[in-house]
Amino acid sequence: MIQIVPSILAADLARLGEQVREVHAAGCERVQVDVMDGHFVPNLTFGPDVVRAVKRAAPGLTVEAHLMVERPEQYVSSFASAAADYILVQVESTTSLYRTLTAIREAGSEPGLVLNPGTPVEMLRELVDLVSMVLVMTVEPGFGGQRFIGSSPAKIGRVRDLAPNVEIEVDGGIDTASAPLCAAAGATLLVAGTSVFGHPEGLTAGIRELRRACGG
Ligand code: DX5
Repeated sequence: MIQIVPSILAADLARLGEQVREVHAAGCERVQVDVMDGHFVPNLTFGPDVVRAVKRAAPGLTVEAHLMVERPEQYVSSFASAAADYILVQVESTTSLYRTLTAIREAGSEPGLVLNPGTPVEMLRELVDLVSMVLVMTVEPGFGGQRFIGSSPAKIGRVRDLAPNVEIEVDGGIDTASAPLCAAAGATLLVAGTSVFGHPEGLTAGIRELRRACGG
């Protein structure tokens, strides 16, 4: 079952509570908070308090904290305390992935690993049993509204082969053209910011169109 996972990076942050309630009312079960530190990626965004605010605004929503930060191990406790349901760590961001993923699960959140476009799938091999999900970045992280990297569906297939029992998510440039390609390759979680919050007829229409594009 394909899930659309709106990324709040593209939301109207002046009314974030309304936007996430509308996302939930549109049938989405999960949103992503894109955490950026200005070092791992050249942008600065949200902290644990935004996760807390989203959970307060829409208690029924599952919230992913995607940590696009250096040394994510220093933030596990604060995002788990903010009730992030999933904490996603970039493979490239720390030398202590085993310890970090274990710490996330011990803190009560579900751990996930994230691969940047240039990072080989092989980097997952020794860690697959520690994670609940794998996120395949389909753009270079840091900003919304970027162009989908066309080689991504093949990479999704390689992740599927290496980790057949793990949910696969994609993030970046997901729209009505790229979404079905990713779904066909084995992705079940589609993160979308611009194509949802930037839709001219509103976010509910954006979500509906992505679902339709994937046969939903
Ligand atoms: C990393 C960010 C973006 C965002 C979605 O840069 O995580 O991928 O979530 O971006 P768009 O607007 O392309 O859906």
